[in-house]
Amino acid sequence: MEHVYDLIRTRRSVRTYDGKPLSAEHRSALAAYLADIPTPWGISPEFRLLDASEFGLKSPVVTGESLYFAAKLPRREHAEEACGFAFEMLVLYAWSLGIGTVWLGGTLNREAFQKAMDLAPGEFMPCASPLGYPAKKPALRETLMRKGVGADTRLSFGELFFSGDLQHPLSSQAAGPLARPLEAVRLAPSAVNKQPWRAVIAENAAHFYVKRNKGFTGDATGDLQKIDLGIALCHFFLTAKEDGLQPALALEDPGLETAADTEYLATIRVIR
Ligand SMILES: Cc1cc2nc3c(=O)[nH]c(=O)nc-3n(C[C@H](O)[C@H](O)[C@H](O)COP(=O)(O)O)c2cc1C
Repeated sequence: MEHVYDLIRTRRSVRTYDGKPLSAEHRSALAAYLADIPTPWGISPEFRLLDASEFGLKSPVVTGESLYFAAKLPRREHAEEACGFAFEMLVLYAWSLGIGTVWLGGTLNREAFQKAMDLAPGEFMPCASPLGYPAKKPALRETLMRKGVGADTRLSFGELFFSGDLQHPLSSQAAGPLARPLEAVRLAPSAVNKQPWRAVIAENAAHFYVKRNKGFTGDATGDLQKIDLGIALCHFFLTAKEDGLQPALALEDPGLETAADTEYLATIRVIR
C-alpha cells in the first residue's frame, strides 16, 4: 500500500453510501486483498465479503450500502489485536480505492452477521463494515452520530504519548522520527472514539498500553479496546515502515508502573 500516512490522515468513517454496487474490478481487488492479510502475531482472521440482501445484513446507522465484510477468528491470546491490525489494513486499502468503510462493533444486526460468517464453536466475530462509495452528502443521522461521539476530535499528542514512563508527556518535537508514526496512532479510529491507546517511548522502542473505559468487553465482540490497540499498532507499524524505520513487533513488557485501568499490550521496536 502506498502513501499510507496520507490514507490514515484522510480516512474517516462513512455511514452514508451512494447506493451503487462496487465495480466488479473493485470487488475482485478487495477479495484478493482480504484472502491473506498477515499480522505480526501470525494470526490471520478469516474475512468474507457478504452481500447485504443475501444475508439480511443491516445497521441502523448505515444507509445506501449493499456489501459488507466481516472477520472471524479463534478465541485466543492476542486475537483482538491481530483482528484490529488486519481489519484496519483492509479499511486503508479500501480507502486507497475510494471505497468507504465504518467499523461496526455494536450497531449491526449481529445474529445475521454471525450466521453469514458460519461461526464455529470457539470462534468469534468482533466487527464488520460496509464497503461502498461515499454519498456526496452525509445523512443527518450520520452528522448527529459524529457529533455525539466527537468523531472529529482527538486527544493531544502529550495526553497519549510519554517519554520513559507513563508520567512524562512526550512532545511531537522530542519524538523525532517517531513523531509521524505516533501521529498516525493519534488519528486512528476507535470504538466510541475513546482513544484508549497510550505509548511510552524508550530509546528505539514504543511500548503500547490500553487505558480502559468501562463497558467495552463482551462475549460476542471480545475486548473492543484491544481491537482499538490493534488498529493503533497497524497505523504505527505501516507509517514506520513507510518512513524506513524497519518496525518489528515484540512482547517486552518494560514493567513500568501503571494505573489500575492501564495494561501493557505490545512493543514495536524500530531502527533509527
Ligand atoms: C472497534 C470499533 C468499533 C466501532 N463500532 C461502531 C459502531 O458500532 N457503530 C458506529 O456507528 N461506529 C462505530 N465505530 C466507529 C467510531 O465511532 C469512529 O471510528 C470514531 O468515532 C472516529 O471517527 P472516524 O472513524 O470518522 O475518524 C467503531 C470503531 C471501532 C474502531
